[in-house]
Amino acid sequence: MTDKKATLNIDSENEAISLPTYSGSLGPDVIDVRGLTSKGYFTYDPGFVSTASCESKITFIDGANGVLLHRGYPIDQLAEKSDFLETCYLLLHGELPSLDEYTDFVKIIINHTMVHESIARFFRGFHHDSHPMAMMCGIVGALSAFYHDSLDITDPRHRIISAHRLIAKMPTLAAMCYKHSQGQPFMYPNNNLSYSENFMHMMFGTPCDDPQVNPVLSRAMDKIFLLHADHEQNASTSTVRLAGSSGANPFACIASGIATLWGPAHGGANEAVLKMLEEIGDVSNIDKFVAKAKDKNDPFRLMGFGHRVYKNFDPRAKVMKETCDEVLAELGLEDDPLLKIAKRLETIALEDEYFIEKKLYPNVDFYSGIIMKAIGIPTDMFTVIFATGRTVGWIAHWHEMLGESVKIGRPRQLYTGAKPRDYSPREGRPAAAKEVF
Ligand code: CMC
Repeated sequence: MTDKKATLNIDSENEAISLPTYSGSLGPDVIDVRGLTSKGYFTYDPGFVSTASCESKITFIDGANGVLLHRGYPIDQLAEKSDFLETCYLLLHGELPSLDEYTDFVKIIINHTMVHESIARFFRGFHHDSHPMAMMCGIVGALSAFYHDSLDITDPRHRIISAHRLIAKMPTLAAMCYKHSQGQPFMYPNNNLSYSENFMHMMFGTPCDDPQVNPVLSRAMDKIFLLHADHEQNASTSTVRLAGSSGANPFACIASGIATLWGPAHGGANEAVLKMLEEIGDVSNIDKFVAKAKDKNDPFRLMGFGHRVYKNFDPRAKVMKETCDEVLAELGLEDDPLLKIAKRLETIALEDEYFIEKKLYPNVDFYSGIIMKAIGIPTDMFTVIFATGRTVGWIAHWHEMLGESVKIGRPRQLYTGAKPRDYSPREGRPAAAKEVF
């Protein structure tokens, strides 16, 4: 609590309402509005733009200055010096692991990479052209039916076992979605490979070949997972917390996060980047599309540019750009027509007055979309990969919330519907005005 008190003066009230304020370790102070309910008021904040829904020690974002910290560590340092699994440990446990702790953690995750054999049969129920996110929502929710030995959410030991299972099995399930769509046999994980190598092996390997994973590409995949690992109280994380506040099991909660991430306003932007590049079709059309993006009367926007929170630069995009250049050079794809459009677009946007003035820099989705396209991952798998990386963030928030005294999430509303009225008999009732649906 701080010494500052917020005072709310309401015209019709005689007395001002005094509200306590709190300071975090970083970021703006918050005003505690909980006492307002007893005074007969709710706060109104659709989209939660001004509402801190919880206290958290996991991730901090300062959008104005392009800062993203996990447990205090800047994302660029983690991307450069750490790896995805070490970052998972950090997010879950709050500190970087010692060498022994790291080795044990990697061993535990590797031990959990296989999924129950019945899950392969479960996949057969999906049509071959099912969207992979539809399969992920269903399969991850169904995991609770297979691993009910660790579903006591009041037991921290059960919680951590479920966390390990989810982090370990997500790449296996993601690759199974892809293999199912291709009509190829599912690949078992190979415990001699690292987390990201294993994912590449399960995606692109076949049982007929020895594992062959290009280290540049698996490193790029590791960075994509790492850079998506957590992003504070975004829509899917808030959904996971809300689902978890009811006492739902971890697999059900993560499935709710996956469903939320699926929306184009959240996890779908990297897919939109690729669709836009295909629509542009040729370098000669770029100027036309840039003009459309700048035209106030045209709703078209350059996908992969701009960010709601990061107004100077997206710190994840800086890292992704370097990785993108490495991948394109490794694969000799500098002349790929689609990727040529992407590079040209990037140059124009970085030099054009409109984009500079409005601070519309390429964001993380611009580069991750290009990298995944170059690696050969189909666009409908992009959000699945995002979900694979984000799973640890969802679990870290879910676990943090359960460690406190949990209050079920229950927002209130500003009701603008009908006032009380009496039921009238159907006979003689006028036709309903169907303006809602
Ligand atoms: N292309 C052209 N103009 C743009 C763009 C764009 N991509 N983004 C914003 N603008 C313009 C917009 O028209 C407005 O102009 P004016 O001031 O003349 O009306 C101005 O810039 C501010 O736009 P805004 O919509 O108020 O900005 P916002 O912060 O609300 O929107 C955004 C952020 C990400 C929704 C938006 O930049 C956008 O639609 N970008 C393209 C989609 C995209 O790449 N989304 C992924 C974001 S990263 C997701 C993640 O972190 O996971």
